[in-house]
Amino acid sequence: MCGIIGCAGRGDETLDVLLDGLEGLEYRGYDSAGVALSNGSLSVCKREGEIRRLQQAVTGDLVGPVGIGHTRWSTHGPPSDANAHPHTDCAGDVAVVHNGIVENYADLRAELADRGHDFDSDTDTEVVPHLIEEELADGATFEEAFRAAVARLEGSYALAAVSSGSEAILATRHDSPLVVGVGDDAAYIASDVPAFLDYTDRVVYLEDGEFARLESGSWTVSDADGRLLDKSVSRVEWDAEETAKSGYDHYMLKEIHEQPRALRKCLRGRVDELTGAVDVEALDGLNPSSVQFVACGTSYHAALHGASALREAGVHAQAFLASEYATAPAPVTDDTLVVGITQSGETADTLSALREARKRGVETLAMTNVVGSTAARECDRALFIRAGPEIGVAATKTFSSQVVAANLLSASLAPQSDAREVVEALRDLPGQVQEVLDSSRAERVAEQFLDSEGYFFVGRGYHHPVALEGALKLKEITYKHAEGFPAGELKHGPLALVTEETPVFALVTGNGTEATKTVGNVKEVEARDAPVVTVTDGVSDVERYADAVLEIPETHPRVAPVLANVQLQLVAYHVAKKLGRSIDKPRNLAKSVTVE
Ligand code: F6R
Repeated sequence: MCGIIGCAGRGDETLDVLLDGLEGLEYRGYDSAGVALSNGSLSVCKREGEIRRLQQAVTGDLVGPVGIGHTRWSTHGPPSDANAHPHTDCAGDVAVVHNGIVENYADLRAELADRGHDFDSDTDTEVVPHLIEEELADGATFEEAFRAAVARLEGSYALAAVSSGSEAILATRHDSPLVVGVGDDAAYIASDVPAFLDYTDRVVYLEDGEFARLESGSWTVSDADGRLLDKSVSRVEWDAEETAKSGYDHYMLKEIHEQPRALRKCLRGRVDELTGAVDVEALDGLNPSSVQFVACGTSYHAALHGASALREAGVHAQAFLASEYATAPAPVTDDTLVVGITQSGETADTLSALREARKRGVETLAMTNVVGSTAARECDRALFIRAGPEIGVAATKTFSSQVVAANLLSASLAPQSDAREVVEALRDLPGQVQEVLDSSRAERVAEQFLDSEGYFFVGRGYHHPVALEGALKLKEITYKHAEGFPAGELKHGPLALVTEETPVFALVTGNGTEATKTVGNVKEVEARDAPVVTVTDGVSDVERYADAVLEIPETHPRVAPVLANVQLQLVAYHVAKKLGRSIDKPRNLAKSVTVE
């Protein structure tokens, strides 16, 4: 959603650190950005648009030992200079950046307006500096004023504030992430680690209701009553090189190419080399009678895969869209396990579904990429997918790693007759993904069908989630219309949309019943003159009906979808590139969606 950065103790470099940090956070939102630095007086600069526009606008008077910055993804009020953060009070003495939503802002704003406060923006955030201003006017210290203002807020927030009368950054969180970076002579605060990873890999994760105070080179964390807390400092595994583009045109392409490595890391130490047995510490002792997955978007597609794998192994399992989970909730028993699949670990819909599950007294597991994320900390257990940082807004390597982790979960929870074959296929997967990357003809296919009106994706069984994922990836980064269906559903309605202008991507592997039936659906499409692109291992005769073929190596049916999906990721990437789209930062989207 939005991204926050703050830095204390970098002297003349404060502005540079903030601007660099904002670049590292731009994936969280990018419709406007701004900074505020305190040096006895406050200087603020903010601009609508990408961070580039802010970088062009900053001037030499933005100096000070402490500063905060923000990159925004609008919720209240359209992108504009006025709605960009930081927001200030009437006198321009307090500046605040915020991620989340202040739900009672309308009441607070009316109350403040009655007492003579003028507002410059349409945002919910702007009430916060005005609340602080009133407390300061009543004689409170900056910290007392900040705490008193926060006590008035309802909703979700990560907040950071600076004031002209103080050399401290104050910050707090409720349902939105914030992490302190611990440098040798400086301290940082941010929504996410990449913002300061160039300077330190030592971090302190804030919990809801905790307050951080950063001053030149020092930091403290206290609870809501002001008692100092003894927080532990952890080291993040990611390094700055991992979060750079490393010569690729886009993060998305880099992350697609990182998949072999990410998958190896996901499997490392979790599969016995000799026996093929799966041993995942996070799952020790788990023996649920039913599993409910909750997730959104791409992660939901991985959840669909996970639920099928568990059902195949004889465990009751369902996948729910997290935003729908609390409506008419599915029954649970004492030994139900609720698994939240969430790359970021911060998606509000997924966190809310997991909290709902905890309220119902069931055990929860976070399957996530981010150690220290809210999901990882709030759930009873956490299974890390170890994909490494994913900066491109469109999820790629994390989906593949989620699917592999879901297979580890199912192999660990239920003995399966083909467990050994699945595990062996998983072990071969990184090498096979590399083969696909090295030989893919996706760019040519992208060129061939660049001007098409719309795109359809069909697959059965384990290929169904990938049909959905292929369509999602294409639409989010190309802005072209795309839909995915279970192949059998095509004839129950969507076929009416199929014309010679709408290529149909059909996922067909093996030559079992599902493949034969999907080949039947391909023939129906071909008879209506629609171009067919098949993603196939070449085992069936589907290629006879295809206008273009994207090949994948043969493997176990449960693993083939990952390979098929790599081809579809590349198609989406190349179509978007040829159309000149903003691939890493598609319009209207944000990497981590921290509002419901
Ligand atoms: C699509 C995409 C989104 C996310 C969704 C959930 O490419 O990235 O659909 O999958 O917003 O995000 P996480 O996994 O962070 O909960």
